[in-house]
Amino acid sequence: MKRIGVLTSGGDAPGMNAAIRAVVRKANYHDVEVYGIYHGYEGFIQGKMELLDLGSVGGIIQRGGTKLFSSRCPKFMEEKYRLQGIEKMKEAGIDGLIVIGGDGSYRGAYELTKLGFKCIGVPATIDNDIPGTDFTIGFDTALNTVVNAIDKIRDTATSHENTFIIEVMGRDAGDLALWSGLAAGAESVIIPEEPFDLDDIIARLKRGEARKKKHSIIIVAEGVMPASQLADMIKERTGIDIRITVLGHIQRGGSPTAFDRVLASRLGAYAVELLLEGKTCRAVGIKNQEVYDYDLQEIFTTKHQADISLYTLSKELSI
Ligand code: F6P
Repeated sequence: MKRIGVLTSGGDAPGMNAAIRAVVRKANYHDVEVYGIYHGYEGFIQGKMELLDLGSVGGIIQRGGTKLFSSRCPKFMEEKYRLQGIEKMKEAGIDGLIVIGGDGSYRGAYELTKLGFKCIGVPATIDNDIPGTDFTIGFDTALNTVVNAIDKIRDTATSHENTFIIEVMGRDAGDLALWSGLAAGAESVIIPEEPFDLDDIIARLKRGEARKKKHSIIIVAEGVMPASQLADMIKERTGIDIRITVLGHIQRGGSPTAFDRVLASRLGAYAVELLLEGKTCRAVGIKNQEVYDYDLQEIFTTKHQADISLYTLSKELSI
């Protein structure tokens, strides 16, 4: 293999640039050229790409977002577009692809491998919801962004003796809510993986009040319900006037943490190694600090599991 492609797809995640850099540098180290494909699968279909040399990925390891741009591309689920894209790649002499993204991006990669085009998936999403890897690229940065935001909100919640509900991203996964809730000492954390228990949330508020604690932080994962809906439910039962903050897309931006840069560098480089060994339909991940690879299809047959021991701990510590 002398020429490979790399693309980023789905929601951007901090550390995607570090992964692109690792792919380019590792491939160049082995005398393999890398073409950067723009706008995810949209660019794959249209053959929108550019040769990435060593210098082109200089100065991006610390940048959030993705130099290659990203998109969600529903039409890629149609075979005619995938075949069109494969043709474009063949014309350019590209016979392997590294896809950096989340589960939707992996689906596209899997469909390409069924048509005989070699692909390796690199997990990058702030949601941390890819089965088979302990962490996805971008999660740690988003987590730190959320924790910083909660810390700031706590300042004002304390000063004004308010109860705040903070809604965090994660799609159907509770990881961002869970980890940030524990890290910021939230009074309640509500995640999709655990049964919703309004009585418990209210009991916690009451317990706080009983010991003269006048402010409270409740973290709700977007996959459970909007913060506004939860605020209405609590107000109806208690009369407490609740302030809400929806953190939104600030969670996806910003310079990647050192952890995400290292993870992205390791996973990006490892994905290149796999392609050069002639492997295909593999996903790379990290388990107990070790980089490894597994069948890409596993992400469709296994469900991501949030670490429920953190949930239990968070409840115990926020009694
Ligand atoms: O998958 C990343 C993510 O930020 C989710 O947490 C969120 O639900 C979704 O993307 C938002 O997507 P969009 O930016 O397309 O609205």
